[in-house]
Amino acid sequence: MSGRLAGKVVVVTGAAQGIGFGCARKAAGEGAAVVLGDIRKERGEEAAAKIREEGWRAIFQFADVTDETQCAALVDAAVRKYGKLDGLVNNAGWFPRARLEETTTELGKK
Ligand SMILES: NC(=O)c1ccc[n+]([C@@H]2O[C@H](COP(=O)([O-])OP(=O)(O)OC[C@H]3O[C@@H](n4cnc5c(N)ncnc54)[C@H](O)[C@@H]3O)[C@@H](O)[C@H]2O)c1
Repeated sequence: MSGRLAGKVVVVTGAAQGIGFGCARKAAGEGAAVVLGDIRKERGEEAAAKIREEGWRAIFQFADVTDETQCAALVDAAVRKYGKLDGLVNNAGWFPRARLEETTTELGKK
């Protein structure tokens, strides 16, 4: 890996498995400290542990992205552990979709 994200802190939602886990693992391998958010606590903890076992930095934080308070707690967890937040992989998703600026809490509950 080339270390292109060295010194960066990245949050990935829906990171317990699949594309989100792949993004988290890749970002960690590029040097970022990653915070994995997901609603599957056990699997999310295992995913973060797997990344740490590879020698990279990762923690898990339970976070349901349909709950604004839990999204704020996810950001807080990144800042508390790693001191800042540089990037977000907004992977946990649902339909209907909207552009970031048009996304509201209500949209996620439809
Ligand atoms: N796999 C594909 O072919 C494909 C294609 C287009 C878009 N996508 C999108 O990519 C994203 C990831 O897809 P995937 O195939 O890796 O899915 P996946 O089902 O393998 O993983 C999704 C993860 O998101 C978590 N999650 C679900 N609801 C959540 C919530 N409310 N808050 C936090 N975490 C939640 C799940 O626990 C799971 O760990 C999704 O948004 C999906 O719509 C996937």
